[in-house]
Amino acid sequence: MATELQLIHSEIIECTKCELHKSRTRTVPGEGPHDARIMFVGEGPGQNEDEQGRPFVGAAGKFLTELLESIGLKRSDVFITNIVKCRPPNNRAPRKSEVEACNPYLQSQIRLINPRIVCALGTPAITTLMGDEYSASRFHGKPSTKGEVTFLPMYHPAAALYDASLKETIFHDFQILKQLFENKATLDPDIPKSAESSGKKQTLEKWA
Ligand code: URA
Ligand code: SF4
Repeated sequence: MATELQLIHSEIIECTKCELHKSRTRTVPGEGPHDARIMFVGEGPGQNEDEQGRPFVGAAGKFLTELLESIGLKRSDVFITNIVKCRPPNNRAPRKSEVEACNPYLQSQIRLINPRIVCALGTPAITTLMGDEYSASRFHGKPSTKGEVTFLPMYHPAAALYDASLKETIFHDFQILKQLFENKATLDPDIPKSAESSGKKQTLEKWA
């Protein structure tokens, strides 16, 4: 899986499938263990990410690291990526056509990494991963399971960074994430029992 993931990342580096390739400095494929149990998906690279070719390395990234540490995780424990791998000019929201052009990369990453939990950060990531009827304000902290993967919508850390009440909410939603990977959360009813008793639990035990 590691090499297949590397192949996807080399495809991304050369990608010209949407307009965003014209203004990018570097692509930001994502980073983390190829067999991470938890994945984070943000909206798109900002200026720092575009310069460094790495996801979540600016102010929002610093806050994400803090949120992870609040539940005993390090950045290097999780895989971090975005719905578009190139920076939208002036940090505008990615267009639907750009998200659609880039989505096959995200879907391949999810398939190859095969995480147990995918955290969708902010409404654009939430709708891309879960459907247009979902949003951060209505669904944050509410996990839902599709097949073997549990999706957990959250506010975007950049939105929560300077808003005290959202900040409290996102710390609380990270506690839900912690309970999920410790298998203690009240999961929605359609979570298959088989998913909870599968081999994946073993790798999760290092966090238990
Ligand atoms: N915001 C995002 O959505 N993604 C990043 O990689 C950085 C900031
Ligand atoms: Fe390709 Fe995605 Fe970059 Fe568009 S955003 S050029 S689809 S890698």
